Parts: sequence; structure tokens; C-alpha cells
Amino acid sequence: MRVLTVAVLISGAGSNLRALLEAASAPDYPARIIAIGADREAAGFEHAEAFGIPTFLVPFREFESREAWGRELGVQLAAWQPDLVVLSGMMRLLPADLVAQWAPRIINTHPAYLPEFPGAHGVRDAIASGTTQTGASVIVVDHGIDSGPILAQERIAILPGDDEAALHERIKPVERRLLIDVVRRIATGEIDLSAATAAASN
Ligand code: GAR
Repeated sequence: MRVLTVAVLISGAGSNLRALLEAASAPDYPARIIAIGADREAAGFEHAEAFGIPTFLVPFREFESREAWGRELGVQLAAWQPDLVVLSGMMRLLPADLVAQWAPRIINTHPAYLPEFPGAHGVRDAIASGTTQTGASVIVVDHGIDSGPILAQERIAILPGDDEAALHERIKPVERRLLIDVVRRIATGEIDLSAATAAASN
């Protein structure tokens, strides 16, 4: 079995990363996480340590521009030569050059039913809108904000009394399931990222 190699980028707790690490430790899962990077000292690095996966830190605040930060992130990623880059709670917009370097082999999870509620506050924005349902999505990263081709998504009800934290905790298990399934389907060839990207641009 050919195994897909994956680098994951995080900014925070990395709970979705943890689920992917657990899935990927099953012998029959067709992908392996080979490196985990972050734009800050992310709490999620503890999962990398627990699973013995190497990490790299490219602190956004230490670079004079987003482009300079993205160049260094690109160098660090390229050193691992992953087949796929997964943004799992990476809360920074990647510069266009970096996206171009990896497209279409770069995917992102998002806690809303895209194209509804893109951006850094997808859960909060859904509640504020007064709608009764939101969702979770896994997309290909393109040059926009959460605007790339959708690979998988699922609806989740917003319940009366939901606050941002409670709703996000119900969204995350769905995100995890979608992410694990999408990475598996990319590894097996069931999802062709080039075809998905070409179809979306027609
Ligand atoms: C996840 O819900 C992810 O979709 C979201 O951040 C959370 C990270 O949680 N990402 C975005 O909102 C990107 N726009 P985690 O660090 O516990 O996995």
C-alpha cells in the first residue's frame, strides 16, 4: 500500500490534529503525518510530542511581512516533501506564493458550511446571523478566504441557547470525521485534487 505523507499546520489546541494522528496510527489508514508546523507556540504541539512527530515553528510575529513569513514556512514545508499539506486550525491567511507552491495539494478544515461564514470567526458569525443551521467543511485552499473547492461538508443544527463554545464543540467531531475521511480518500485516489480544482474553476 502506498502511504500518503502529510504535513499539518496548526495555531491552537490541535484537537482535530489529534484525531488525525489517532486515525493515522491505524495500520490500514493510508496516510501518515510526517511533520507538524505552527505560526506560534501552539498548545497542539503536545500531540506531536505524544505521537513522536517532528515539529517546526515559524513565528509569524518575528517576520516583517506575511510574504517573508510565508517564504520561511514554504522552506520548512519543502524540507519534509509531504504529498499533502493540511491546515487544521491554522488561523493565518497564507500568502499567495505559498498557496501557489502547494496547490492543489493543500486543504483546510472550517467550522461552517462554506461558502457560508468564511473567515476566522465562522462559528460566532453563524450564531450572530440568527440562522438555525451551520456546518463543517473541508476544502482545497485557494487564494481567497475559505473560498476553495469543497471536498466534503455536513450540516449541523444551531440549538436554542447555543453559545460559540458549545456550538464549536458540536462542530469539531464532525470536522474530524470529514477530515479523516477526506485525507483517506485523497490517499486512495478516490478524491483527485487536481480534478476537483479544475471542476471548480469551470
Ligand atoms: C477548528 O474548528 C478549525 O476548523 C478552525 O479552528 C478550529 C481548530 O481547533 N479553523 C478555522 O476557523 C479556520 N478558518 P483545534 O486547534 O482544536 O483543532
